[in-house]
Amino acid sequence: MTTGGGSERGEYVLVADNVVKRFGGIVALDGVTIRIPRGKVTLLIGPNGSGKSTLVNVITGFIEPDAGRVYYKGRDITRLPAHERAKLGIARTFQIPRPFTNLTVLENLLVSVDGNPGENRFLAAFTRGLWRPFEKRITARAFEVLRWVGLEDKWDVRASELSGGQMKLLEIARAIMRGADTIIMDEPAAGVNPVLADSIFERLRSLANERGITFLVVEHRIGLVSKYVDYVYAMNMGRVISEGPPEKVLTDKAVLESYLGG
Ligand SMILES: Nc1ncnc2c1ncn2[C@@H]1O[C@H](COP(=O)(O)OP(=O)(O)OP(=O)(O)O)[C@@H](O)[C@H]1O
Ligand SMILES: [Mg+2]
Repeated sequence: MTTGGGSERGEYVLVADNVVKRFGGIVALDGVTIRIPRGKVTLLIGPNGSGKSTLVNVITGFIEPDAGRVYYKGRDITRLPAHERAKLGIARTFQIPRPFTNLTVLENLLVSVDGNPGENRFLAAFTRGLWRPFEKRITARAFEVLRWVGLEDKWDVRASELSGGQMKLLEIARAIMRGADTIIMDEPAAGVNPVLADSIFERLRSLANERGITFLVVEHRIGLVSKYVDYVYAMNMGRVISEGPPEKVLTDKAVLESYLGG
């Protein structure tokens, strides 16, 4: 097994090293290096088309880079398919939440464990009242995770009745239930009002602080979320143009100009 990225047992759980990705004549990623610190909330910003989603796709295995490497806990995962990365503990949430809307919040967590909702033996066991130690343990775990994300009162509510923000929290809970310790979110608060966006980020903050979960988050409304964030990478035209704590990056002249230049 190849190791590298300086992240083994270390401070950085995920490292993208000098990643290049071209689409025809477009250089979407032009030698991008980012290091995601363990148990922290890292923010990825940049104007439209700067390469944020492409970078997320490379890190999560939806796109293969033309050059460069990706490391997870020191292991080279550059050529690993997305589902294999998910098994290792990297979860990706999409812009559109996709929980099973006809299931309750609790059921959504239970089916997440198996990964095969169609013929799920947990649900079958529950409906037939066949409580075995395994199901008991999984249910206890599900309630614990619901508590962590603040959805414990909603356990019996159908996912279709949740608000947009609660859907996001459910998605995070499902990822944690599957064993994810690194959660990558491309605009989790898109379409969510500022108050709710605030509460989502507050939750990310506490999951990082109290549960050691690592987050990489793409978000446009940086003023809104900067207080919940440990570290920021700013991209423009396929490159990292600034990095550091939010107060540094968000006042960086190059970053401000990149947004104006759009
Ligand atoms: N599948 C693709 N085929 C061709 N070009 C692409 C593809 N995906 C992205 N690009 C191009 O790569 C560049 C980076 O796009 P990307 O989606 O990564 O930007 P972004 O920072 O996520 O933008 P936004 O803020 O609008 O989501 C853009 O010029 C985009 O048009
Ligand atoms: Mg994008």
